[in-house]
Amino acid sequence: MTPDTAATAFTHSVRVWDPFVRLFHWSLVSCVLLNQFVLHEGEAAHTRVGYLAGALVLARVLWGLIGSRHARFADCLPTPGRLRRHVAALRQGRPPRHEGHNPLGALMMLFLMALVLALGITGWLQTTDAYFGEEWLMELHEWLANGLLVAAALHGIAAIVMGRLERVNLVRAMVTGVKRFY
Ligand code: HEM
Ligand code: HEM
Repeated sequence: MTPDTAATAFTHSVRVWDPFVRLFHWSLVSCVLLNQFVLHEGEAAHTRVGYLAGALVLARVLWGLIGSRHARFADCLPTPGRLRRHVAALRQGRPPRHEGHNPLGALMMLFLMALVLALGITGWLQTTDAYFGEEWLMELHEWLANGLLVAAALHGIAAIVMGRLERVNLVRAMVTGVKRFY
């Protein structure tokens, strides 16, 4: 059996991401890119889009408790045990295939969502009388935005690279909802 036929023999598809998760993901990406590159400080739209991003994250947290199987935190929470097993498998050169998020991916997802919430809070604080015009808060807000950009770029690259190693197009799955293992 050639490696190709061996691979096709195991081809199968699983529906993993429900419509909410997909809509959440691409809406969040749009909000972050808009606020980073298009809508600038002082524009009311920057504030609205930033709050929308925060609201999307809060809705996703709720969905992590009551949503579909792979959307739930119980399915993907990156516990130390799960992380250790995952890293050990990667080191041995056999990247494990996950129907839901892999533990490292889930860790990054929580980090990205925390950064978006922190941007919402530091942005909002600047609209309050107590913190209006605070230099350190502006700097923190910008550092968080830059950190989010770097982390999201790593996350996007990791999704493409891990998809190749695990022989499943992870990015397409975030669009169609279906992971097609080949
Ligand atoms: C600002 C940019 C981005 C942010 C804030 C972001 C955030 C997230 C979050 C929070 C999740 C978890 C989804 C969930 O379970 O609800 C996720 C998953 C995912 N993201 Fe992104 N993302 C960004 C950009 C991208 C880009 C550019 C790509 C494609 C190259 C991408 C591909 C994916 C994929 C494939 C998954 C699912 C990974 C898996 O199968 O475990 N993301 N992202
Ligand atoms: C996804 C969420 C957000 C991202 C990625 C983001 C990104 C940024 C970036 C890159 C800047 C620096 C320069 C500029 O573009 O004008 C900035 C500035 C600013 N943002 Fe945001 N922002 C977000 C949410 C918010 C929210 C929710 C508010 C207010 C409620 C807000 C208020 C401000 C203010 C007042 C400034 C100018 C002062 C400063 O530099 O901190 N932002 N934001």
